[in-house]
Amino acid sequence: MDMTGNTILITGGTSGIGKALAAQLLALGNTVIITGRTQARLDAARADLPGVHCFVCDQSDPDAIARLHDDMVHSFPDLNMLINNAGIGLKRNLNDASVPIEDLEREIRTNLIGPIQLNHQFLPTLKRQKAAAIVNVTSGLAFVPLALKPLYSATKVAMHSYSMTLRAQLARSSVRVFELAPPATDTEFNKGQEDMNTANRMSPEKVAEAAIRGMEQDRDEILPGQARALRLMGRLRAKMVLAQAAAGKMGEAG
Ligand SMILES: NC(=O)c1ccc[n+]([C@@H]2O[C@H](COP(=O)([O-])OP(=O)(O)OC[C@H]3O[C@@H](n4cnc5c(N)ncnc54)[C@H](OP(=O)(O)O)[C@@H]3O)[C@@H](O)[C@H]2O)c1
Repeated sequence: MDMTGNTILITGGTSGIGKALAAQLLALGNTVIITGRTQARLDAARADLPGVHCFVCDQSDPDAIARLHDDMVHSFPDLNMLINNAGIGLKRNLNDASVPIEDLEREIRTNLIGPIQLNHQFLPTLKRQKAAAIVNVTSGLAFVPLALKPLYSATKVAMHSYSMTLRAQLARSSVRVFELAPPATDTEFNKGQEDMNTANRMSPEKVAEAAIRGMEQDRDEILPGQARALRLMGRLRAKMVLAQAAAGKMGEAG
């Protein structure tokens, strides 16, 4: 994919990987639009990213996504790339029955239902372009779940599966589907979680560089740093589970 001269919507561009992608894609001569939940954080990002366009959109709210779509197709009819980057990943205790269901839903809507709605709404616009792309940002945890972040891990494995099927269904269209699965990255996402895997976090700038290089090389799945090792671990574990089942070690409950 040619990574210059595109019109690119990046969800969640106010910090971390989204902001690093926005900076590097602007420098390559693309038109870049970012979203975030608040005007204040978008204004702060705009101060660091001259030329970027901003829209407030909380993608856990389907009506906000519909409004973003209407505004975008009017203002940027040439949109040819959608980067589904916005996400949250919360530590959760699934034994805690006092957590409101709305709180659980918000994480799933932000990470999974929001991107699916965004793709659904923007696909007609993307398909009209000569060359277009959807980039779904998943995680190394799409391959190996982390017990401390159960809903997050579940949304990312679902996005991984959905990215494969979306790619298959769009194979005859002008729209490529990339998956970017970052490893642990040094962003606000991990704020307050310094106890978890602090060493070896990648910088968001390096993740963005790897993402752009991967798209230039038309690599469907881009796995910077330790994400590749996590995918290998996931495959080995699946093989072990299947081997145990074949050896009759799973019991009736399997
Ligand atoms: N950091 C890691 O270790 C890591 C590892 C693997 C994958 N990832 C993935 O990488 C992506 C980016 O994360 P990051 O590490 O760059 O984290 P980050 O610095 O916290 O950035 C997250 C971005 O998402 C936006 N956002 C959050 N909820 C939103 C909502 N409901 N609607 C719209 N925007 C929303 C935030 O904007 P506002 O706060 O301004 O609304 C912010 O711009 C996520 O999908 C994450 O799952 C991160």
